[in-house]
Amino acid sequence: MVDEIIPKYWYNIVPDLPEPLPPPRDPPDDERSKIDLLRSILPKEVLRQQFTVERYVKIPEEVLSKYLLIGRPTPLIRAKGLEDKLNTPARIYFKYEGATPTGSHKINTALAQAYFAKEEGIAHIVTETGAGQWGTAVALAASLYKMRSTIFMVRVSLEQKPMRKTLMNLYGGEVFASPSQLTEYGKKILEMNPNHPGSLGIAMSESVEYSLRNGYRYLVGSVLDLVVLHQSVIGQEAMKQLELEGVEPDTLIGCVGGGSNFSGFAFPFIGNNVGKEYIAVASKEIPKFSLGEYKYDYPDSAGILPMIKMITLGKDYVPPSIYAGGLRYHGVAPSLSLLIKRGKVRWREYSEAEVFDAAKLMIESQGLVPAPETAHAIASVIEEARNAKKSGDRKTIVFNFSGHGLLDLTNYESMMKRLRE
Ligand SMILES: Cc1ncc(COP(=O)(O)O)c(C=O)c1O
Repeated sequence: MVDEIIPKYWYNIVPDLPEPLPPPRDPPDDERSKIDLLRSILPKEVLRQQFTVERYVKIPEEVLSKYLLIGRPTPLIRAKGLEDKLNTPARIYFKYEGATPTGSHKINTALAQAYFAKEEGIAHIVTETGAGQWGTAVALAASLYKMRSTIFMVRVSLEQKPMRKTLMNLYGGEVFASPSQLTEYGKKILEMNPNHPGSLGIAMSESVEYSLRNGYRYLVGSVLDLVVLHQSVIGQEAMKQLELEGVEPDTLIGCVGGGSNFSGFAFPFIGNNVGKEYIAVASKEIPKFSLGEYKYDYPDSAGILPMIKMITLGKDYVPPSIYAGGLRYHGVAPSLSLLIKRGKVRWREYSEAEVFDAAKLMIESQGLVPAPETAHAIASVIEEARNAKKSGDRKTIVFNFSGHGLLDLTNYESMMKRLRE
């Protein structure tokens, strides 16, 4: 059964997009090419995959065996409790990525990138993390491949989620609050504002700088096409699981930080013309879809990485400290940005209060505590299910449950307090 469900290839949507994907590029006034610099930043094979136009890329046996080790395929679960609670004629299913050891989908690409780094003889990997889900995944992947890991964690998130640091440390990872004094860029930011809360863009610049200086390699957690490629195991498994149940999905929903879990989940459906509508959900507090612009921008705040064309709030955007740390990133993956701009994927934004209500409904009806990021997708699932009730539509909604929230309980605590006030 496992063998039937777990894919042997990653799916790349790039050749199936309605138009060519605008490639990463160097800014016109560049002295040293940032694209060339990528060779010293990313593991070689990872960089090759970033630019591949093949529709299917073989998953190395070694990575497949690690996918099995962490419990892939993840379950596809019918949310009967939620359906009953909402009294909706719609059927609701979710792909439960919270089932991995680190509690989110992030491990799917961490394992692949760590493997390619290891193959190249790299002994130490570096990354940034917002909510801590990505950092935890990298620390675990590094430990499984017997490498060292350093993680720059956005300061405000580290303060909100000290347990994530504990978990990264348990996996052998070394964790620093960003902005830090360890990099030139971090020092510059702290000079301007010693109390800077940090941002994913800043932490990204710090990790890249730190990695370059020490000859380590940097692992990318979201946004770039190579990450979306690796995450396609989610959607491919889900398609197979639905097929085995004889279910045809109508509406596919996922939350969007940098866009990796949504894309990994929805792109195999989109590319194979399965499903009728696709909804990408962000936070109203970080209004990337309603206020972001579709243009070339830097993925990191220091502008070390090449520019990519994406929906962005600007590389220097300092997000408000909402409880869903993983959705605070300023941009959206280029391939997803393009599909949104062309109207193939629709978007929604919900406020913190709406998202919290959605999380509570999930907890009460299914017993599962969602990551605050995931709760954004759930808010949209609930809206769709309620609309289906009004119109008597018996459609099937499938969403990606990107992570559990058992290490986000402090956020829930402060949310409850704020709502009481
Ligand atoms: C559980 C969870 N879901 C979603 C996200 C958003 O990232 P992405 O859009 O890349 O999936 C994060 C990011 O940290 C996360 O931890």
